[in-house]
Amino acid sequence: MKLFKTFVLISALILAVSGCKVEKPADTDGHDLWFHNLEQVAQAAPASYTTEAIAQSEIDQYWKGKAAVEIKVLDQKDDALGRDGYRLVFSGKKVSVEANTAIGTLYGVYGLLRLQQTDALPKGSKTITEVPAYQYRAFNHWDNLNRSVERGYAGKSLWNWEELPDKVSPVYQEYARANASVGINATAINNVNANADILTPEYLQKVKVLADIFRPYGLKIFLSLNFAAPKHIGGLDTSDPLDPKVVQFWKDKTAEIYALIPDFGGYLVKANSEGQSGPQDYGRTHADGANMLADALAPYGGVVFWRAFVYDAQAEDRAMQASDEFVPFDGQFRDNVLIQVKNGPIDFQPREPISPLFGQAPKTNLMLEVQITQEYLGHSKHMVYLHPLWKECLDTDTYEFGKGSTVAAVTEGKFRDNKLSAISGVTNIGDDANWCGHQMIQINWYAYGRMAWNPDLSSEQIADEWLRQTFSSDSKFIKPVKDMLVRSREVTVSYEMPLGLHHIMASNAHFGPGPWETSYRKDWSPQFYHKAGPDGVGFDRTVATGSGATAQYNEPLASTYDNIETCPENLLLWFHHVPWNYKMKDGKTLWNELCYTYQKGIEDAADYIKIWEKVEPYVDNQRYQEVREKLIRQAKDAMWWRDAVLLYFQTFSNMPIPDDCYPPQHTLEELQQVGVFRRPQGGMPGGMPQGQRPQGGQQARPQGAPQGAPQGAAPQMPRMRMPEIYDMLPEYTLPSMPDL
Ligand code: GCU
Repeated sequence: MKLFKTFVLISALILAVSGCKVEKPADTDGHDLWFHNLEQVAQAAPASYTTEAIAQSEIDQYWKGKAAVEIKVLDQKDDALGRDGYRLVFSGKKVSVEANTAIGTLYGVYGLLRLQQTDALPKGSKTITEVPAYQYRAFNHWDNLNRSVERGYAGKSLWNWEELPDKVSPVYQEYARANASVGINATAINNVNANADILTPEYLQKVKVLADIFRPYGLKIFLSLNFAAPKHIGGLDTSDPLDPKVVQFWKDKTAEIYALIPDFGGYLVKANSEGQSGPQDYGRTHADGANMLADALAPYGGVVFWRAFVYDAQAEDRAMQASDEFVPFDGQFRDNVLIQVKNGPIDFQPREPISPLFGQAPKTNLMLEVQITQEYLGHSKHMVYLHPLWKECLDTDTYEFGKGSTVAAVTEGKFRDNKLSAISGVTNIGDDANWCGHQMIQINWYAYGRMAWNPDLSSEQIADEWLRQTFSSDSKFIKPVKDMLVRSREVTVSYEMPLGLHHIMASNAHFGPGPWETSYRKDWSPQFYHKAGPDGVGFDRTVATGSGATAQYNEPLASTYDNIETCPENLLLWFHHVPWNYKMKDGKTLWNELCYTYQKGIEDAADYIKIWEKVEPYVDNQRYQEVREKLIRQAKDAMWWRDAVLLYFQTFSNMPIPDDCYPPQHTLEELQQVGVFRRPQGGMPGGMPQGQRPQGGQQARPQGAPQGAPQGAAPQMPRMRMPEIYDMLPEYTLPSMPDL
């Protein structure tokens, strides 16, 4: 043994001295996700398709340890583990995976394999207990029945409705397995802008097939519903939630669903938002609508995820509306209703403060909605690791129940008797071979699941785990790439919308800059959000002179945000209108701070390419080339953003871009020609690509018509797909950038 060790040591030394290259891994398209480095050690016994059989087969195939693994559903239930928790008991020659339920053991098996793959198995005897923080760890697919995906950038929807229920793609099971491996246990499979047809018998037969495939993996199906379904598919003349016929329609529909899918999760509802029907169409309230559905679901144990994403064109400040509409109903929702709140008060911007609603509805089951798909953060063209964004929200203190009432604690239900808790993420998945459209942003799917299980995990730990399982465990790879990923959200904030700027992207596609754009609806107009003028830039949300949105937060957040001196600089222009020559904490003027922050964003994005090139030996050629191409694109886009925003703001500030910043590569006029951004009236409904707006409700508008517009008044704009828009931008050659 000693001789062998000496031999290994000498061989390693020779390799190190000779600078011998690591062996290049075999090419992959990335379809196997974070299972990539799981080498099969045995052939699986043909598994009958039950949770127990899956758990056993995963161990038989992939467990490499010498210790025998025993999988045990506990006879004597252990309350501490709940439904989904598990315990791994390592005792020398044996590892025991214990849980109250079969699904708990499956989570335990994936937990054990994760420890194996990340070199984290304990050396001696040890017990590891894992219990998820949230009861429902949900995915929201914004998938339409025609297989387009709203805000999806990874191909078509996974669900092939035309082929279902007869033909079943193997991808459905792969998807369920991937979700189970990170603990995701609920999935709303259709768009919140819902087509009522999903509730017809024809579609429910198809949904049932998916539910049957997902069940052994512990994945419950939810459906997004169209509140006007009683009219659309029920033959009724109303969808009023207090009308007995409507109540009966939902009772019957719910019974029909449970007869097919006994473990159906419940309904996800977008009501009275962006043209969708809702109870307000009939003079009723969010509580009336949500409670009516909750009553239909209650006998079966189902729940309602009712979204708080509401705003209308009349509001002085869109950021305040969700609170204004929902706080009055605090305490009036049924126990099986959860109010699903986006992380920030506007809409998934690269940085927002938390939604104030998290600190204002103590008697309501609140849940967090995050966006995994990168609607505002470069689609699947940019590498952005989103966990730091989500974690920033979860860790923010609402102070609602005193210090320590973080968004995580509030949404986990720590201050409520009703322990119902949930979290949702809008997926970034499509039928692309690599699922997500960019190899590196698969991490966001993984990270979302890990976070939903344990909100305390750090971004570093999750990135570390993902890299080891998906690429390489070599520290020369892990260290630089992990660092790059962990910084990437901040980098994107810097080159897109730093210092609290928000909603200044091009309307419609939400990709690329458009600070000059105006819309007939002020709340879709970038100018409404940045308010740039000769006197400065930023949205005044203070109590004394602005919209007063700061007062929606509890103290001390309210006065911290309200006071320009104490407001965190990364949210400065969110809460304040600030003169161009305002002195920042580092002594720079606001204008120069903007210039240097954008500059840093470009430098960092360009730096990714160098970092990636250095780790080339550790990455297979296929994924290496794909990622490299995307990183080049990202660096160019960073320049595009910077040029556009600074040149436009300069028309107000009249201040020079400092000499030590890269000079803009294009004139403002050139940049404004890109795409069709100078539409006479701008803006599309909810930013939705034309032809994808499903039927609305009572107030449904013609397709392509902006919400709030008088019927028939909406201009039919020429539409551009993103690649064309981008190709119209003359190539950035980046000549002045060092080392490129
Ligand atoms: C954003 C997004 C829409 C989406 C909406 C929602 O406005 O642009 O496409 O429908 O959010 O969350 O409902």
